[in-house]
Amino acid sequence: MVELKLEVDYRCYASTTELPPEYQELLDCAKKALDLSYSPYSSFKVGAAILLEDGTQIPGANQENASYPLCLCAERNALAVANIQYPSQKMVAMAVVAAKEDIFVSPCGACRQVIWENEQRNGAPITMLIQGPEGKVYSFKSIGDLLPFGFSGTDLG
Ligand code: THU
Repeated sequence: MVELKLEVDYRCYASTTELPPEYQELLDCAKKALDLSYSPYSSFKVGAAILLEDGTQIPGANQENASYPLCLCAERNALAVANIQYPSQKMVAMAVVAAKEDIFVSPCGACRQVIWENEQRNGAPITMLIQGPEGKVYSFKSIGDLLPFGFSGTDLG
């Protein structure tokens, strides 16, 4: 038996002003997308935004349903728009924020898996920018850092 350890490198920015301008704008786009959230059941608004290689920003927001399991997360809504409207553009980064500012918006497991699939399609890492408490922003170089041992098409053999 061998005990192994996983380590993840990530960054914490004290405020958005420490980020490059394109990432500041991406977080602003995700914050604006909070107005598009339809969340009458949880009252938990989530906004997302994807930055494409040509600088286009794609907003996304959670869309809930009275049949709760049908609720769609902000991240997956943004990914669907990016894939349908800009199929030939690579994704560079995704920002995720919540209306409740003092929390770390951790993408759910389903979204991590779907972002992972998109990273495989993309052929390049997607930087994840996540809102943290006290105005902090956490950055991960790849969704793989948030989904160790992620399942992918190559695992199907
Ligand atoms: N939600 C997201 O939009 N993204 C996540 O990564 C986590 C959860 C939404 C789904 C639901 O509308 C609400 O937050 C509460 O779970």
